[in-house]
Amino acid sequence: MLSLRQLIQQDSNHNLLDLLSSLCQGSIAVDEQGLILWMSDAYRSLINVPEGLDPIGRPVEELLPTTQLPRVVQSGKPSFVDLMQINNRWCVVTRLPIRNPENVVLGAIGFVFYDDLDSLQPLFDKFARLRRKFEDEKILRPSRYALDDMIGSAPATEQLRRQALRAAQLDTTLLLLGETGTGKELLAQGIHHASPRRAGPFVGINMGALPESLVESELFGSAPGAYTGANRAGRVGKIQLADGGTLFLDEIAEMPLTMQAKLLRVLQEREVEALGSNQLQKVDVRIIAATAKDLKQLVQTGEFREDLYYRLNVLPIQIPPLRERLADLPELTEFMLTQIQRQSQLPELSLSATAMEWLTHYRWPGNIRELRNRLERGCVMAEGQQIEALDLGSDDEAITDADTDSAGTDLKHVRMEAEYQRIQQAITQCNGNKTAAAKRLGISRASLYQKLSSHR
Ligand SMILES: Nc1ncnc2c1ncn2[C@@H]1O[C@H](COP(=O)(O)OP(=O)(O)OP(=O)(O)O)[C@@H](O)[C@H]1O
Ligand SMILES: [Mg+2]
Repeated sequence: MLSLRQLIQQDSNHNLLDLLSSLCQGSIAVDEQGLILWMSDAYRSLINVPEGLDPIGRPVEELLPTTQLPRVVQSGKPSFVDLMQINNRWCVVTRLPIRNPENVVLGAIGFVFYDDLDSLQPLFDKFARLRRKFEDEKILRPSRYALDDMIGSAPATEQLRRQALRAAQLDTTLLLLGETGTGKELLAQGIHHASPRRAGPFVGINMGALPESLVESELFGSAPGAYTGANRAGRVGKIQLADGGTLFLDEIAEMPLTMQAKLLRVLQEREVEALGSNQLQKVDVRIIAATAKDLKQLVQTGEFREDLYYRLNVLPIQIPPLRERLADLPELTEFMLTQIQRQSQLPELSLSATAMEWLTHYRWPGNIRELRNRLERGCVMAEGQQIEALDLGSDDEAITDADTDSAGTDLKHVRMEAEYQRIQQAITQCNGNKTAAAKRLGISRASLYQKLSSHR
């Protein structure tokens, strides 16, 4: 059985070893006892072998105190990429055990692949930046919006903006209340952005989107090996991640009752205990909770803890639905149309007068989000230069009158009946042409359709 020494001797011209060295910045071979068998010239100058000293046959530690080669020989395990300091220079090294066909370790070879990591610093910085960005996008929802991104100058919107600005200055818990799509998340981000915590993280977590079994570890984190789930390594909870910043608890009404008790403790003590850690850690977070539901009612039905409700309800901010700030529509639609056209590279489109009218007659259950969706749809459906009412939605979706629940229903019925008769008459006079009939009546085509359909 040949030893590594004999193998190297067989390769008397060192063809193989020279080839290996030419592929890297230096290479070294040791035998099964850690004695140096071979060393490339580059390696010699890298480790500064004194003039006249022959390293061959010497223990590798003598010349290189930090070497790991004897360990590789002992364990028989390679270390593919490692960092090692040689003469104050950080190097990237790889170490491989050499085995004979019987799998006996004969020695090891070490390669230096890079001997000047400082020149790689820009690359490392770029990597760190990219990784931070990736992590940010993955776990933290960075605060993308400022309060200025909130469009609209209806009185209700202006009041909301003023309220938000004041709330941003206070460090109290906030409860954002509003129907779906009214801009609760936008507002939460805007408030964080305007608050003294703006330099800290904005961490959002949606209670409605998490299975109950995951809520605890997501929020509070878990110690390594705390549970036999997918995350044995342990994880940092979102509350901890928000340390120094703002924690946005979206759809708070969906929070399981047991978690509500734990959250209450965080609010009271400003401490978190990761699952299975038995350790309390101080956290400094500002909590903004949001819900579209009636929390008070959930308290009554026992689905939401009363004590937590009062803790959260310190400073409630009610976001009015879009139908109560219709004056925002022109600004909102202009802003969104520009945005949609920029993103989708669709031709520039404007809203026809009837389309605008349709918007003001619609009830907007999905609020501002729905407005955006309908405008997107309108941009795709439009056939001419303008978006027409029918591109936004059907006529019977729009409402003719908001006071449906008033005591004047009888009167309204009479009026609607009279209108219907008059419209039918006009349509007959215009030979069935509804557009012409609308014109004759001095109303838009959309409202003519609305009036006809609401009569049905
Ligand atoms: N005042 C506003 N100006 C411009 N865009 C807005 C405004 N309010 C909301 N939006 C936009 O409308 C969409 C819905 O807003 P957001 O997600 O904040 O609503 P939400 O109240 O959190 O809804 P949900 O209850 O469904 O989660 C987002 O795209 C947001 O950017
Ligand atoms: Mg939301």
